[in-house]
Parts: sequence; structure tokens; C-alpha cells
Amino acid sequence: MQNETRKLTLGVNIDHIAVLREARKINDPDPLMALAVCAQNGADQITIHLREDRRHIHDEDAKKIICSSPLPVNLECAVDESIIDIVCDLNPHRATLVPERREEVTTEGGLDVAGQKFALDITIEKLHVNNIPVSLFIDPNIEAVEHSKQLNAQMVELHTGHYANIYAMLHSALPHSHHCIEALDLPRDTLEDMLESALANIEHAAKHAQKLGLEVAAGHGLNYHNVHAIVAMDAISELNIGQSIIARSVFSGLAAAVSDMKALCDR
Ligand code: PXP
Repeated sequence: MQNETRKLTLGVNIDHIAVLREARKINDPDPLMALAVCAQNGADQITIHLREDRRHIHDEDAKKIICSSPLPVNLECAVDESIIDIVCDLNPHRATLVPERREEVTTEGGLDVAGQKFALDITIEKLHVNNIPVSLFIDPNIEAVEHSKQLNAQMVELHTGHYANIYAMLHSALPHSHHCIEALDLPRDTLEDMLESALANIEHAAKHAQKLGLEVAAGHGLNYHNVHAIVAMDAISELNIGQSIIARSVFSGLAAAVSDMKALCDR
């Protein structure tokens, strides 16, 4: 008898289409155009991040995307009163709370769930009053999972950036972030141990969250090379992937980029 495997939801993060648009401050390319292509090529969800600095997705984009998306929209946002008010008006299918720092290039780590417990409590309560389910973007550790459960979140998204960085260091010819280059001269054995422990942390956190009744997503830095080990973790039911899909779409088109990733996500 085969074990029953759970379907993996693919959320495509389309922020980078707006990043390209903002490079010229014009209206092209429009992230709205990605919705149908993603839906037709295997995506299960659209993910966008309405940042406080509005560096890519703007309020108007979020509004149009939520109103017209054929797929559920997962809206990432900071724990900030003025943004949360906007999110409540926008009424997405889910809000994912993420840490935000103005000077960061991308979301660098998970929420400080212990340190921010009071602010998170108020924010989650407000979203719930507005019937918006909440996911918390956290580092893959048991303590953060426990805090998320105590805070009444429905879901956690485990930050896979650390795993992705180590994977890139081990395979230096593959896409990697600039700060990985400094660590490329670490011995291979050390990197392999680091990779194993990063994966063990993700799996351990995912299983614990699932045991507590939380839905488990994962994301950040996942690409066509490193996604397989995360797909293999049965406790994870959703992946949110942006950079690698949009990067591939430059060369092969968004339809192929989404369907290639979907094929890798099929368990
Ligand atoms: N999940 C969350 C919570 C994120 O903040 C991001 C980046 O915006 C992603 C997933 C997607 O990460 P990447 O663009 O590296 O695939």
C-alpha cells in the first residue's frame, strides 16, 4: 500500500514583475498580467508583498490583484498598524506577517515572535476580526512554532533562506546571493553538515507545527535546483516562490517557468 502523499500548493510571488516596472517608473510590465498565466500553468496561489516603502507592489496593484485573481491571494505585510488597516480593507485570502527593514534587499529572517508577541497579538486579533486567516513567517525552530501556535495563527511559513544559501555555497555554479561568495572556501564536509542540519531544522519545525495543528508553508530562496529536498517533506503543504520563477521567465517565459516549477512540486 502506498503512503498517501499530500498535495503541495505552489504560491507564485509576483513582486519581481513590479520590481522591473519600478526600474522605469512606468506601467509595464503589469503584475496583473501574470495572474492568468500563473493560473493556467499550475500555480495554486498568488503571493504579493505590500511593503511599507512600496518599492514594488503598490496599493492599487494589490487591490486589482485581489479583486481579479482567479487564484487565492496571499498578502505579505509587516506588523504595522497603517499597513494592517489597508490589508483589512483589501481582504485577501490570507495575510502573512513578515519582518521588514527598510534597508534590506529582501526579507532576511523570520519574525521575532517572542520579542514582538504583544504587537503580533493585537495584529492577529485585528486580522481575525476581519475574517482574514494569518500565517507567520518564522525561522525554522521549535520555539518560534510554539509561539505562533500560542498567538492563534492558522499557519506558519518556514524561512528557507539559510538552507538555500548553504545549498548555493555547495554548488557555487548555481544562483547564489553575493554574501555566499565569501563563504565558498569552507571545506565541503563542513558545508554538507551545515546543509544537513539546516534541512533537519526545517523538517523538525514543520513536523512540530503540523502536530500542533498548524498548516505549514515554506519559502525564500527556493529554486529549480534546491526545491527537491523541501518538496520531499510531507509536513509542508505550500511553497511560496518568487525570484527563481521570475528570473527563469526572462529566458523561457512565465508560462514555462511556472509549469517547470509546478512539475518539481508534484509529489
Ligand atoms: N515567502 C516570503 C514570506 C517572502 O517574504 C518571500 C520574498 O518576498 C518569498 C516567500 C519568496 O522568496 P523568493 O523570492 O526568494 O522565492
